[in-house]
Amino acid sequence: MRLVGKTAVITGAASGIGRACAQRFHAEGARVIGIDIAAGEVSGVEHWEVADVRLESPIANAISAAHSILGRVDILVNAAGVATGGSAIDVPEEEWDRVLDINLKGTWLACKHVLPYMVAQRQGSIINLASIEGIEAFESQLAYNASKGGVILITKNMAIDYGQHGVRVNCLCPGLIETPMTQVLREPGLEAVNETFVKGHMLGRAGKPEEVAAAALFLASDDASFVSGSALVVDGGFTAGRRLSDAGPIA
Ligand SMILES: NC(=O)c1ccc[n+]([C@@H]2O[C@H](COP(=O)([O-])OP(=O)(O)OC[C@H]3O[C@@H](n4cnc5c(N)ncnc54)[C@H](O)[C@@H]3O)[C@@H](O)[C@H]2O)c1
Repeated sequence: MRLVGKTAVITGAASGIGRACAQRFHAEGARVIGIDIAAGEVSGVEHWEVADVRLESPIANAISAAHSILGRVDILVNAAGVATGGSAIDVPEEEWDRVLDINLKGTWLACKHVLPYMVAQRQGSIINLASIEGIEAFESQLAYNASKGGVILITKNMAIDYGQHGVRVNCLCPGLIETPMTQVLREPGLEAVNETFVKGHMLGRAGKPEEVAAAALFLASDDASFVSGSALVVDGGFTAGRRLSDAGPIA
C-alpha cells in the first residue's frame, strides 16, 4: 500500500498502460480519476471525465472537476496516446497534426492544468508516457518518434521549472508492450516484424502493461522522492544495445 492517502489523475485510463496504472494505483491505496476520450469501465477508477487531451478547454474542465472531487492532485499520469506509421515523404499533414497533438500537446495541456494545484500544494509527481521511440528512431515512424522525443524533453523542462516548487516530473520509455495499441503487430501478416521487434528486447519477450504500471508506481511513490527529470526505460533491455550472435557465432 504505497499510495495510501494519495490522489491520482490518469489520462488514457480506459485502456492498456493507463488502465494498468489506474488499477495498480487503486490497489496501492490511491483514489483515482480517469480522463479518456472513450468512456471507460475500470475497477478502481471512482470517476471518469470524458475529454479529448488535444483540446485545452475540455482538459482544463476535466482536471478542475477532478480536483473538486479529490480535494488535491498528488499524481498525474499522462498515458493517452496514439501510434502511427509513415516516413517524411508520406506522412499526411493531418496525421502529423493528430499524433503530435495527442501525444505531445495533450501531455503538455494536462500538465499545464495540474501543475498550478501541485505548485500550491508544494508537492506532486507527474509521469509522462514517452517511449523507446523517443530515444531511438524507428523506420517509418517519423511523427511518433517526433512526439515521443518531445515528451522526453518537455518532461525535463518541467522538472527544471517546477522542482523548486516540490513537483517531480519524470517519464517512462517503455519498449514493446502488449496492449490494444500494439495488437496490430500480433495479427496475421506481421509475424516476422513482431518477431524481429521482440528479439530486440534482451529479455526475449514483449512487456505487459502491469510491468509499466509497476515502474509508474515507483515514480509516483515517496520511494522516488529524489527522482526528477528522468526518462526511465522499461524496455527489457531494448535500448541497452545490439546483440549480434542471433546471426551466428561471434567467436
Ligand atoms: N504499447 C506500447 O508498446 C507502448 C510503448 C511505448 C509507449 N507507449 C505509450 O504509452 C501510452 C499508452 O499506450 P497504450 O499501449 O496503453 O495504448 P492504448 O491504445 O491501449 O490506450 C491509449 C488510451 O488513450 C486514449 N486516447 C487516445 N486518444 C485520446 C485523446 N485524444 N484524448 C484522450 N484520450 C485518448 C484511448 O482512448 C486509450 O484509452 C501511449 O502514450 C503510448 O504511446 C506504448
